[in-house]
Amino acid sequence: MISISVNDIYKNYVAINKKVLIFGWVRNRRHSNSGISFIDVYDGSSVHTIQCIINNTIVNYDSEVLKLTSGCAISVQGVLVYAFRSIQKYEIKVIKIKIIGWVDSPQNYPVSAKKHTYQFLREIPHLRPRTNYIGVVTRIRNHVFHALHTFLYEKNYYWIPTPIITSLDSEGAGSMFRVSTLDMKNIPTNVRGEIDFNKDFFGKESFLTVSGQLTAESYACSMGKIYTFGPTFRAEHSNTTRHLSEFWMLEIEVAFAKLNDIISLSKSMIKYVTQFILNTCTDDINFLYDNIDKNIFFRLENCLLYEIIDINYNDAIKILLNSNYNFNNPVQYGLDLCAEHEKYLVDKYFCAPIIVKNYPKKLKAFYMRVNDDKKHVAAMDMLVPGVGELIGGSQREDRISILKERLLECNLCIKDYNWYLDLRKYGSIPHAGFGLGLERLLSYITGIKNIKDLIPFPRNVNHLLC
Ligand code: 4AD
Ligand code: MG
Repeated sequence: MISISVNDIYKNYVAINKKVLIFGWVRNRRHSNSGISFIDVYDGSSVHTIQCIINNTIVNYDSEVLKLTSGCAISVQGVLVYAFRSIQKYEIKVIKIKIIGWVDSPQNYPVSAKKHTYQFLREIPHLRPRTNYIGVVTRIRNHVFHALHTFLYEKNYYWIPTPIITSLDSEGAGSMFRVSTLDMKNIPTNVRGEIDFNKDFFGKESFLTVSGQLTAESYACSMGKIYTFGPTFRAEHSNTTRHLSEFWMLEIEVAFAKLNDIISLSKSMIKYVTQFILNTCTDDINFLYDNIDKNIFFRLENCLLYEIIDINYNDAIKILLNSNYNFNNPVQYGLDLCAEHEKYLVDKYFCAPIIVKNYPKKLKAFYMRVNDDKKHVAAMDMLVPGVGELIGGSQREDRISILKERLLECNLCIKDYNWYLDLRKYGSIPHAGFGLGLERLLSYITGIKNIKDLIPFPRNVNHLLC
């Protein structure tokens, strides 16, 4: 007999009144005095469990069924029927049940059926996927990933895997994790007493990438429309609910494109993903509505209904200055927007996603194209309610002389960027792109505030489990 999943039962309405086989784990069990056991089984495919009704006439009823506890792994054969007297729609009248894995000392099982705090679950990242909460997140994450790939595939973008190990600080911000095979107890030094990276694995200093953008540009400047999507690493000491040390970033790079082209692309992409999730993850979104965020439908439907507007950085500053709001961080032309400023704009003022563009040059990375006023750069950030910055992007500086000036202004060594300058030397083109943090997008969609719950194994300052 071929096994089916709980999702097959609920979504695809297969096998009613037929014999089915399912594999899964016990969520809850209840043994009635009249000799019947009710076992709720989950298998990761759905927010629902399927109730299995087991009669004491079954051979292993006393020896095994009565000993089942939350977390035991089982296979069940039985007939799938409509459940008229239960809140669940279906149930299985069990013919045969096999216990595949027992739970050692059930009283100590960390994820028993009772509700746990999110903080407690973060301490057991290897077991928390057994909860409905993380099950919902994991399924939505998978669908968001798929939606992003599909959106780009249908528009003929190529997926380029850019390197994870790099020698360059793409953002020029300097918070990178070092990659080294040097003996930490006996670090080689040169004649000047400095660490001798010539002796390191790559013969030079190397790091985990903070962004695949620069190498992605080399492919955009030959393949046209490309993206890279992978793990990204930042060693900044920001232990906030929206920062991870290892997160996933989608970075899109488009040849012959200007700032407005990528602004339009980013807007249609967000709407596409939102629509996709509303269409495909109905049960999981309903779970979030019931348990996490009563605002979820309002937020997602609003995103689809209204145009995402874009405003200049200067206008954003004016709005903040006129707000009479008591911010902790100063608001002033020339200063960067802090999380609280971004949140004010999207949570209180616009109550919707927005794009802020044309930032002062000194706030942004060296590669952003300098505007004609020489003071601002063709940058864009998409800010979304509940999260703040979701996307950061720009038109790239395609004029070699200005790019060199910017590298010097940012105290970066031109020699290190020679290959990047080549892209401007040989057939330079206007091009633009942006990066989107996958976990922040998930936070926006699900309404889950802490980004540590939106990646399976979160890494943060002083936090690395499993
Ligand atoms: O704004 P960022 O730093 O932009 C770049 O890295 C560009 N090279 C992207 C590009 O143009 N190709 O990062 C892009 C996005 C942010 O808007 C945010 O969503 C996410 O990456 N992000 C983080 N997400 C979680 N934890 C962190 N520490 C993050 N840092 C950035
Ligand atoms: Mg940014």
